[in-house]
Amino acid sequence: MTATTIPGLDSAPTTHQGLLTWVRETAELTQPARIEWVDGSPEEWTRITDLLVDNGTFVRLNDAKKPNSFWCASDPTDVARVEDRTFICSRDPKDAGATNNWMDPDDMKAIMVERFRDSMRGRTMYVLPYCMGPLDADEPMLGAEITDSAYVVASMHIMTRLGSKALELFTKDGVEQTFVPGLHSIGAPLEAGAKDAAWPCNDTKYIVHFPEERLIWSYGSGYGGNALLGKKCYSLRIASVKARDEGWLAEHMLIAKVTSPEGVEKYIAAAFPSACGKTNLAMLEPTLPGWKVETIGDDIAWIRIGEDGRFYAVNPENGFFGVAPGTDYHTNPNAMRTIEKGGSIFTNVALTDDGDIWWEGIGEAPDHLTSWKQQDWSPEGSELAAHPNSRYCTPIHQCDTRAPEWDDPKGVPLDAIFFGGRRRDTVPLVTEARDWQHGVFMGATLSSETTAAATGAVGVVRRDPMAMLPFIGYNAGDYFAHWIATGKGADADKLPKIFYVNWFRRDENGAFTWPGFGENIRVIKWALERIAGTAAAVDTPIGRVPTPEAIDTDGLDMSDEHLRASLAVDVEEWRAELPLIEEWFDKIGAALPSTMRDELAALRQRLDG
Ligand code: GDP
Ligand code: PGA
Ligand code: MN
Ligand code: MN
Repeated sequence: MTATTIPGLDSAPTTHQGLLTWVRETAELTQPARIEWVDGSPEEWTRITDLLVDNGTFVRLNDAKKPNSFWCASDPTDVARVEDRTFICSRDPKDAGATNNWMDPDDMKAIMVERFRDSMRGRTMYVLPYCMGPLDADEPMLGAEITDSAYVVASMHIMTRLGSKALELFTKDGVEQTFVPGLHSIGAPLEAGAKDAAWPCNDTKYIVHFPEERLIWSYGSGYGGNALLGKKCYSLRIASVKARDEGWLAEHMLIAKVTSPEGVEKYIAAAFPSACGKTNLAMLEPTLPGWKVETIGDDIAWIRIGEDGRFYAVNPENGFFGVAPGTDYHTNPNAMRTIEKGGSIFTNVALTDDGDIWWEGIGEAPDHLTSWKQQDWSPEGSELAAHPNSRYCTPIHQCDTRAPEWDDPKGVPLDAIFFGGRRRDTVPLVTEARDWQHGVFMGATLSSETTAAATGAVGVVRRDPMAMLPFIGYNAGDYFAHWIATGKGADADKLPKIFYVNWFRRDENGAFTWPGFGENIRVIKWALERIAGTAAAVDTPIGRVPTPEAIDTDGLDMSDEHLRASLAVDVEEWRAELPLIEEWFDKIGAALPSTMRDELAALRQRLDG
């Protein structure tokens, strides 16, 4: 078929030539049965979700329990981000650096064009115009995704500002605006008369970024982080390159507003690796009386320096794509209330017999479930009912704790930035950086145990700089230099203060030493008091750590021993980190700023001192 005969090509609701040409060329390459322009309307949501139910991809949940919501089980091999299949195809391999997979862009395109050829046969090709961040931004951040996955269409309805209202912005005062094109195919052409799989995908996967062209090509996977191209691909990998070029930061951070009992409002951002507590902290329900936390974003922050010199953070997303296991009314009641309201998609959780969802950590298991593998499940068995990386996808606007500013194009001025990881030892509950450069060093050497959010081994400690290891769209050494330069370019007294946290330290029995979740407000409180100059700290070789008395433990049910264990700085454990940091810096190589080596030398000296 030539593209001109593919139904739907002529009915484009835009005159944007760049978009039209790309759609036509892609249709000629991928040969879909038809083209549909996504408008983002509620009617479209109903039509697409009905279609997914008919195809067996979705099961409609019981309306009395989760209205307008769906259960979905993926192919068991397509459950997480695939870091070993993710590529940064810059012209020069130096621009991808030591932490990214690289291939020459022309070579990669030659391979992928053959993958995409005819890949949409028998399927609908959806064209999704969308906007990351507020629609009324001075410079709306536009994107368009072409996909053959209806699951992606439904998910993007929740996660982005999608459809007609975004498409209107593609042309401004008669001038065609630039947008980030993202081509996605599940790589499963459908032969005439063949029955479709419930979750079609391909064993071969490519998640590819061409940073100079601001272009994304994704093939073979339907999983959120690989397929919803507005999220990790655009808002982190491509945006981080754009941010470097333009002097801002695109980060893997939650954004929250914290109000003290005295009514003092502060804004914080926090970067933790995937499945290390961002969504929970963003929706935290404080256990300390009078404190309030409001949500602005739970995964991504775009941070620009405002005219007043402060760091303003915007959440580019429109929904939450949260880790399900461990979420319940005790740990994250606000996430529970948000998903209860409906309009949500649950992927790879378990299904109850009465049409509700279940996962490990949500409460007592019923006698029978359908597991994420679509098998009968009972509590006696040893298998997990929900995949550890199972996810809920739900809109921000129905989150009761969303801050009124969540959709403000100006963003919110940050007072503090928290870096954190998942470490069973070594890293104390909270450490305050001495200054910006020391804070950048903390971020650059951040370490965390791997989780189920990406394929591969779980529980292995690795360096995950600023929680961005899988998301830096360029050379990690240049990225650290950009962080340092961003701080140098700002007024020192306007910089957010940097802290390093670890909610996941364990005692000799393997139990968490710190209760976490709502109790984390006590750590935030200490950090804000440090900024105000009212809390005590001890200087340690790694930075400033609270004295046990400086943490507000009023009403906290925990042993003094556990509190001390949480805060402890063990010099021997930290000495053991030094060669690992050294090795990490060696890996980054020539692009590593010398200031990072200086910080390491100073740390070594303090530990030896
Ligand atoms: P995200 O992927 O960074 O957004 O992380 P989530 O907030 O979704 O949390 C990932 C997992 O860590 C979930 O199973 C949570 O229940 C768990 N978690 C989050 N915060 C804490 C905490 O403070 N302490 C402990 N022990 N677990 C936590
Ligand atoms: P997370 O988001 O950080 O909430 O886990 C998804 C991911 O990073 O893969
Ligand atoms: Mn994430
Ligand atoms: Mn999250």
